[in-house]
Amino acid sequence: MPVKIAPSILTADFGRITDEVKAAAEAGVEYLHLDIMDGHYVPVITFGPLLVAAVRKAVDLTLDIHLMVERPEDHIAAFRQAGGDIINVHVETCPHLHRVVGEIRHQGARAGVCLNPGTPVSAVEAILGEVDQVMVMAVNPGWGGQTFIESSLGKVRYLRQQIDSRALSVEIEVDGGINLTTGPRCAAAGADVLVAGSFVYNDRAPVADNVRTLRAALAPYS
Ligand code: DX5
Ligand code: ZN
Repeated sequence: MPVKIAPSILTADFGRITDEVKAAAEAGVEYLHLDIMDGHYVPVITFGPLLVAAVRKAVDLTLDIHLMVERPEDHIAAFRQAGGDIINVHVETCPHLHRVVGEIRHQGARAGVCLNPGTPVSAVEAILGEVDQVMVMAVNPGWGGQTFIESSLGKVRYLRQQIDSRALSVEIEVDGGINLTTGPRCAAAGADVLVAGSFVYNDRAPVADNVRTLRAALAPYS
């Protein structure tokens, strides 16, 4: 399977957001990654279900919702109804992770669990058979444009080995600091999905060019 590309719209132009997401769809990406921040779990506030619903109307892509919020269980239904296909929660925010993952699936979405850079992979091992995706954060959540944290690669390799040896169908997503150097290294380590924010949405080149360049760099791992 080719590595999937999931642009994050965090650094897109929100004044023309539907054009921005359509550009990613036309460039052939698989997922669109939507970063939800509440100003508590992380300092920044981004956007909520109303914007997700607007994006849902604009494109037919799989919407990958990344909840960087306290009490994510309170918001699952709203983001599902807005059109979220995959709903990801941070293990650090969920003392009752098993229940929350069950609730995401009960709402008809795919369930993802996210690991901060300081959280060991062991935090998700017990639930690996119950989720659709594990997101390895390669930066601390809160901002786009940060530098990739190297220790993330070891987590991806370990997860790949666990998932394969247990014959599970769980995707490994890496979020943060993805570029032409780190993207191929994540793919080689066993990642299935790469979130690319500032690499895709920036002032240097159009979205289509950036997606094409990243896709070409990942081609040897497809
Ligand atoms: C960080 C977000 C990431 C971020 C990725 O809190 O979860 O999705 O936007 O942006 P880049 O690719 O610029 O690191
Ligand atoms: Zn994210």
